[in-house]
Amino acid sequence: MSMTRRPCLEKITPYQPGKPIEEVKREMGLQDVVKMASNENPLGPSPLALEAIKEHLPRINYYPDGSCYYLKKALAKHLSLKENSIIVGNGADELITLVSAAYLNPGEEIIMAHPSFSEYEFAAQLMDARTVRIDCQDFRHDLEAMAAAVNDHTKLIMICNPNNPTGTIITHEELEDFLKKLPRDILVVIDEAYFEYVTDPSYPRSLELLAHGYNILILRTFSKVYGLAGLRIGYGLAREDVIADLNTVRAPFNVNSVAQVAARAALLDQEHVQAVLALNNLGREFLSREFERMGLFYLPTEANFFFVEVKVDAKEVFSRLLSRGIIIRVGNIFGFPQFIRLSIATEEQNARFIKVLEEILKEMRST
Ligand SMILES: Cc1ncc(COP(=O)(O)O)c(C=O)c1O
Repeated sequence: MSMTRRPCLEKITPYQPGKPIEEVKREMGLQDVVKMASNENPLGPSPLALEAIKEHLPRINYYPDGSCYYLKKALAKHLSLKENSIIVGNGADELITLVSAAYLNPGEEIIMAHPSFSEYEFAAQLMDARTVRIDCQDFRHDLEAMAAAVNDHTKLIMICNPNNPTGTIITHEELEDFLKKLPRDILVVIDEAYFEYVTDPSYPRSLELLAHGYNILILRTFSKVYGLAGLRIGYGLAREDVIADLNTVRAPFNVNSVAQVAARAALLDQEHVQAVLALNNLGREFLSREFERMGLFYLPTEANFFFVEVKVDAKEVFSRLLSRGIIIRVGNIFGFPQFIRLSIATEEQNARFIKVLEEILKEMRST
């Protein structure tokens, strides 16, 4: 007897992750490979997190604490919030699927920007819900058009801020004006995976908006500035009733114990965070200057990645960079076939990337 798949599975476009370093080494026969594809932290995790992991390892025979008690306590203190306004997930990714599982019925709608993070659409597709994509204006969320797209089927609105892949932000004022226009039964998910990197003072103070009672869910992660992407841990902040709904659809042991102790130690090491940000700022300045020198259009970024127009086939640029040991992302996955997205790396890696990119563009333009 054959199994019948749910029809909505036909519509699902699987997430295309950045190529792993080991795979590229294997496939290309290279030793020295740099990954600038998944906006990871080139400095690595805090030494305190590594120490906490080592200390915890002999106890991994026990199931993790399903409530993430100590991590939530540390987050609550760090953010001056109550613990019951916090949920911890297996990466922010898991929280995106939990929010869909909690709120979306088949045929209902989410609204998101285009281009933006594709996991929102994936999570909606899992629940057989529809995604309404609203084109960005000048590479920024078009909040007016997003508000105008609201109808009786709208359940969730996804705001990626800073936006992946553009690195652009919407401001506090813009976000608050937008929230004021919306019916309160729509949950606005504000994905702040990169918020620590932002330097623009007009960036939203989203915790303040939460305290004002707006129906928002703020998503954050330990994958980026805290350098724990491999452990899969992120968190969400919302009203108590929203957190309770998300907990209802969460698996009992969704966050492993190693991730919990590492995240807690990483959170307490804000000195390491400052070192990560300083390195990112250096890279941001260097790469901006280099793109300008090369005459390439790029978006000034508030995050740890750039979206750059190469004016030639991005897939070809990707292949040529790969054959020289540099992994980036093509803009094609976001609907921009002449753009690439690259993560800011170490000073040495950034310089190597620019040197190789320049060679490749020269080769491609001369053929
Ligand atoms: C905007 C955005 N949100 C969420 C995530 C996923 O974060 P996590 O690693 O915590 O699942 C990413 C990862 O790249 C991202 O870019």
